[in-house]
Parts: sequence; structure tokens; C-alpha cells
Amino acid sequence: MQIVKAEFRCSSERISQVPSDSLRDIAFIGRSNVGKSSLINMLTGRNGLAKVSGTPGKTRLINHFRIDDAWYLVDLPGYGYARTSKSQRNEFSKLITDYVLRCEKMHYLFVLVDARLEPQKIDLRFIEMLGMNGIPFGIVFTKADKLSKTQLARNVGRYREVLSEQWEELPPMLVTSSERGTGRDELLEFIGQCLAQG
Ligand code: GTP
Ligand code: MG
Repeated sequence: MQIVKAEFRCSSERISQVPSDSLRDIAFIGRSNVGKSSLINMLTGRNGLAKVSGTPGKTRLINHFRIDDAWYLVDLPGYGYARTSKSQRNEFSKLITDYVLRCEKMHYLFVLVDARLEPQKIDLRFIEMLGMNGIPFGIVFTKADKLSKTQLARNVGRYREVLSEQWEELPPMLVTSSERGTGRDELLEFIGQCLAQG
């Protein structure tokens, strides 16, 4: 699949504000600073479409980017940063859980994880929540440019290992680098298939 046209549509602070048309959302979530906004820019080939920052917590609202007048790429706020409450119950903001669990537009979710790190508890808890609720999702490893091939294979393998302790079926996994454009074609192909499946 190719992206020809990408335009910012709106920022929402509540799910009641997301676009009311029937176009479906392909959304990106993950810890603050993992590279969600960068990945959206990389996929659309439009630097600056989504705001990128070295300071975690840059994206605070749900941002819809309309793609080829046919679907939306959605940039979600990061989790795991500046939480007001440390209790596990509240570690994912209401905005995030409302969107993920209740927004009908949400067609497929990519959970971004930093390829350099051991599986993080907060990501595992988020993935568990998705699994329990039957939300369709895949895992996208980011910042692959910061690792050698061997390190990358080891870290992806480690993720498979940890997830297979809990799940019989593993989610799809894709490796990307927004810096180098790695994984762009594969991710676009995958999104094309998701959207084709209706
Ligand atoms: P929040 O909106 O704060 O939740 O962050 P985010 O997940 O949208 O991350 P963002 O795209 O703003 O990127 C965070 C930092 O990581 C920036 O300094 C990016 O330049 C850097 N970054 C993102 N993707 C990559 C990548 O593939 N490779 C490298 N080397 N750096 C990256
Ligand atoms: Mg962001």
C-alpha cells in the first residue's frame, strides 16, 4: 500500500470529539517517547505532520490524520509518564482506555515498544489488557537503528518468550526505524491487509 495524501484532521480530548465519519482508525500507542509520532511521519513521508520531541509527553491528545480520504492514522498520548497516581488501576489515562476499549472507529492498534529494552512491565500490562478485552493489536519495535542485527534478534526473541508464557497465540510483530525508514513497506502492507479485511 502507498500513502499519497496525509492531512491533520483534529485533536480530541474526549472520544466524543473524534471524527464522526465512518472511516476507520489505525492507531499507535506506547510509552512516552517510544516514537509514535515519528513513526506516523515516517509512514506518511511527511516530517512535521505529527509533532516529535525529545521530551516525553509531547502528544497529549488523540490526533487524527486523514489518509487518502479513506482511513485515519491515529497518534495517541504516551502512557507511563507523569502519572498522577501510581496505582496500577490508573496507570493508563481515561482518554487512552476510553479510546482503545470504547471507540468504534478503532480498527487496529499497534503497541510500540523500544527495541533496545527488555520487555517492560507497563507494556506487558497494557498488552494483557488488550488481550483480555479482545482488542486487535500488533507489536511494533521502534528505534531499530540503535541496535545491531544480533541484538535486535535477541530482543525480539525475548519478547516472544515472555509473551508466550501467557498467550498461546502471539501477536504480529514488526521491526521499524523511523530514522532509517526500516519496516515502512512491511507496516504499510500490513495496514493495507487490516483495512481490506473489513
Ligand atoms: P510522546 O508523544 O511524548 O508520547 O512521544 P512519541 O512516542 O510520539 O515519540 P516521538 O516520536 O516524539 O520521539 C521521541 C524521540 O525519539 C525523538 O527524539 C525522536 O527523534 C526519537 N526517535 C523516534 N523514532 C526513532 C527512531 O526510529 N530512531 C531513533 N534513533 N530515534 C527515534
Ligand atoms: Mg508523540
